[in-house]
Formats: sequence, structure tokens, C-alpha cells
Amino acid sequence: MPRVIFLKPDGSRHEVEAAVGISIMELARDNGLDVEGACEGAMACSTCHIIVDNEWFGRLPEPSEDEEDMLDLAYGLTATSRLGCQVVVTAELDGLVVRLPDETHNMLL
Ligand code: FES
Repeated sequence: MPRVIFLKPDGSRHEVEAAVGISIMELARDNGLDVEGACEGAMACSTCHIIVDNEWFGRLPEPSEDEEDMLDLAYGLTATSRLGCQVVVTAELDGLVVRLPDETHNMLL
């Protein structure tokens, strides 16, 4: 099973095993990490904002235009930000490192 490494805002590191096909947002939630995913992956919130490690960012499939539009609204956007609900685990992503941002901005509220 591929492994994904989450870095939390407090500096802690959580390495979890991921089923192929699960999104990073679902994976984080399943493991009790603090990712809200308020719209359940409909690209209507940005509470699933994650920051991908520089080395991994270029290995992910390109974000769609809709994802980029929603990311523009994310709090604390960075050059390697993605929506966690749109990044799907594949075998090639074994070892993926993502950082969880300090805060998210829930557009649904
Ligand atoms: S869960 Fe809402 S945009 Fe990803």
C-alpha cells in the first residue's frame, strides 16, 4: 500500500497507509487528521486545502481550472497548494509528503 506523510501545523509527522483511489482529503479524515472537507469533494469549499511538498508537486496530475478557481479562495495559498479532495492516491505517489495548513477558509459558512 502506498504511504502518505502528513505534516501538521504543530510540526508533527504522521505516516499513514493509503488505499489506491482514495483522495488525500478522505485519507486525512479517516486518520483523524484535521482536514474538514466541508463540501465532501465537490470543489465548493477549500477546507481541504493542503500544501504539497516541493519535490512531489510536479509529480501530481495538473489541477483542473475549477480546482484552481477554488484554490484562489483558500486561506494561506502557496505555490504548491492543492485541494486535498482532488489529489487521488496512486501507487506512484508512495511516499507523498503533504503539509496541512494552519487554517482554512470555509466558503460554505
Ligand atoms: S472538500 Fe470541499 S473543495 Fe475539497
